[in-house]
Amino acid sequence: MTTTDRSARAVACTNIALVKYWGKRDAALNLPAAGSLSLTLAGLGTETSVRFVAGSAARDGDRVTLDGRPADDRAARRASRFLDLVRARAGLDLAAEIVTSNNIPTAAGLASSASGFAALAVAASAAAGLALDGAQLSELARRGSGSAARSIFGGFVEMAAGERADGVDAVAHSILPPQAWDVRLVVAIATEAAKAIGSTDAMERTARTSPYYASWIASVAPDLAEARAAIAARDLERLGAVAERSCLRMHASALAADPGILYWNPITVRAIETVRELRRDGTAAFFTIDAGPHVKVLCAAADAPRVQGALATTPGVLRTLVAAPGPGATRTE
Ligand code: DP6
Repeated sequence: MTTTDRSARAVACTNIALVKYWGKRDAALNLPAAGSLSLTLAGLGTETSVRFVAGSAARDGDRVTLDGRPADDRAARRASRFLDLVRARAGLDLAAEIVTSNNIPTAAGLASSASGFAALAVAASAAAGLALDGAQLSELARRGSGSAARSIFGGFVEMAAGERADGVDAVAHSILPPQAWDVRLVVAIATEAAKAIGSTDAMERTARTSPYYASWIASVAPDLAEARAAIAARDLERLGAVAERSCLRMHASALAADPGILYWNPITVRAIETVRELRRDGTAAFFTIDAGPHVKVLCAAADAPRVQGALATTPGVLRTLVAAPGPGATRTE
């Protein structure tokens, strides 16, 4: 029997996809149907500690605390299922205490599952005594949430769809470190309400019922190649054009599902108009939207105050925030 607790703590930042992930090739292993590409965001993320309790048994159940309160059943079960993967891999039969806190201002559509499962992968594997490299951590984080595989790394990150049935090649890797390109992502918060349908269910419905799903998936590889080239050239206009069309095509495939999935609200459309006006006036600013109504705008660091000002005065926008490229997930003391 283990006589001392084993614990570790980690932090991870969320990320925003510029080439979207929307659809799976395998639900059980959470393998994406296509690749994706993202920017990890400084200062918006999750801190998680995991303690495997000496003398306990996994069947005793884990204790999960989320932002200072016991997690609801659904979140607690999802965390426990994830820990089961770590326990199996480490040959450990101990219950765990997970304490996690998000500093992401709203839960609606700002992808706390990306930073959440990245931080949990790093903390849980370290607490269990596993020494995993970046690719292995990314593979593990992917089992929690596809977008979490990208938050293991900082800056610009590409996630591979992979080809193998076991998923070892469905992992992310860094394509540009955070300090290599001084861009910003300005977020316009368009509601405080939780999203109507989660991304896991929505992408499953899109794949099953949308007549546009196959063409959406076929569009991803050329967009990835274009985004990679734009990042290598530090060409914001080129990257921004890919980001906008990837976002619009992802949402178009979801809109055409049955029943249709619409994440936008009137404020989303107004914020898109603001971005297009900024561009007409000569500011290089480009929008993307995830599984919620918020609009996220990519721009140069020097233009961030102007972009933020324009979004903050767009009628209906509740708040704005600005994030720089951030680091990958790390273990902390
Ligand atoms: C719209 O990573 O939340 O944010 O793998 O089912 O947990 P699961 O899905 P998730 O989906 C993210 C969808 C998205 C686009 C993206 O981040 O690429």
